[in-house]
Amino acid sequence: MSKPKSNLKPKSNNTKTIIVALILCLVCSVLVAAAAVGLKPAQVENARLDRNKNILVAAGLFDPASDTNEDVAERFKDFEVEIVDLNKGNYLDDDALKAVGIDDRNTYDTSQATKNEALSDDLGNNDPASIGRKPKYAKVYVKNDDAGDPEMVVLPIQGYGLWGTIYGFLTLEGDMNTIKGISFYEHKETPGLGARIEEPKWRAMWTGIHSYDESGDVATGVATSGSRENWVDGISGATLTSRGVSNMIQFWLGEQGYKPYLDHVREESGKTLKSTDTQTSQKLTQKETHPVTELASIAPAAHGKEA
Ligand SMILES: Cc1cc2nc3c(=O)[nH]c(=O)nc-3n(C[C@H](O)[C@H](O)[C@H](O)COP(=O)(O)O)c2cc1C
Repeated sequence: MSKPKSNLKPKSNNTKTIIVALILCLVCSVLVAAAAVGLKPAQVENARLDRNKNILVAAGLFDPASDTNEDVAERFKDFEVEIVDLNKGNYLDDDALKAVGIDDRNTYDTSQATKNEALSDDLGNNDPASIGRKPKYAKVYVKNDDAGDPEMVVLPIQGYGLWGTIYGFLTLEGDMNTIKGISFYEHKETPGLGARIEEPKWRAMWTGIHSYDESGDVATGVATSGSRENWVDGISGATLTSRGVSNMIQFWLGEQGYKPYLDHVREESGKTLKSTDTQTSQKLTQKETHPVTELASIAPAAHGKEA
């Protein structure tokens, strides 16, 4: 028996459905675009705050237990932003920056620079940190003492770990040799393994050791087996990340990295690698007793303050 045909009209047809779907899509995309545009300044601000916080962590000037965002902003004011010609080792003043195509030292982004052939060098086979291209001009953060002499300098560093590029900051004291601190703010290493490079206990091992020996050769790194004088113990179970950090430290302290600049600053301030104090040897004596860790005028022509 066949069903009787309904004479009711359909409530909607295909055209109406498509129109409603299109309107919905349009409204949603406008909302998403508006949110993306509206939230962009907040994202940029958060990224800036995070970077400044990590600079202070590397400088030993941030206590996560008590310091607020206001403390970060206030303390960061003590730092001057300088752009360094990595090959020559000198600062660039505003005119020199313009001449090489950098409009503003504060917004200059070295990651962007590595995508620009005029602002970076291809490292080819001479690339121990596996970064591909090196910016010709680096951005460093300098804190001067009351007499105007460098008290510390915070150097951005980067290099490949096991899973991706690790970004961080290395701070040297005014002798441009003794390590004051280190921080890592972006990486893809595994939590509980390579990501332990972020742990305060491991980072603390860097403080007080020397970057160079008396003849100016890089004298530190991460020891992936046993202990080594003036080297930091590797993280057990994370040998590959440890090796990556070691390579990046040696690269950035070396001739291709900040060495020409650090030599220049040391010379200008009348210091030598021989005059670095002997505080380190005491620290090393303590460290040597540890097993492999089982952790769970270069006077700037123009200063720039970065907010
Ligand atoms: C899922 C997974 C994640 C890993 N993540 C890391 C890591 O982040 N860093 C690292 O050095 N090794 C990592 N490893 C271990 C390495 O594969 C390698 O075994 C280790 O680096 C060797 O270190 P060891 O000689 O100290 O044991 C990981 C292994 C697995 C299975």
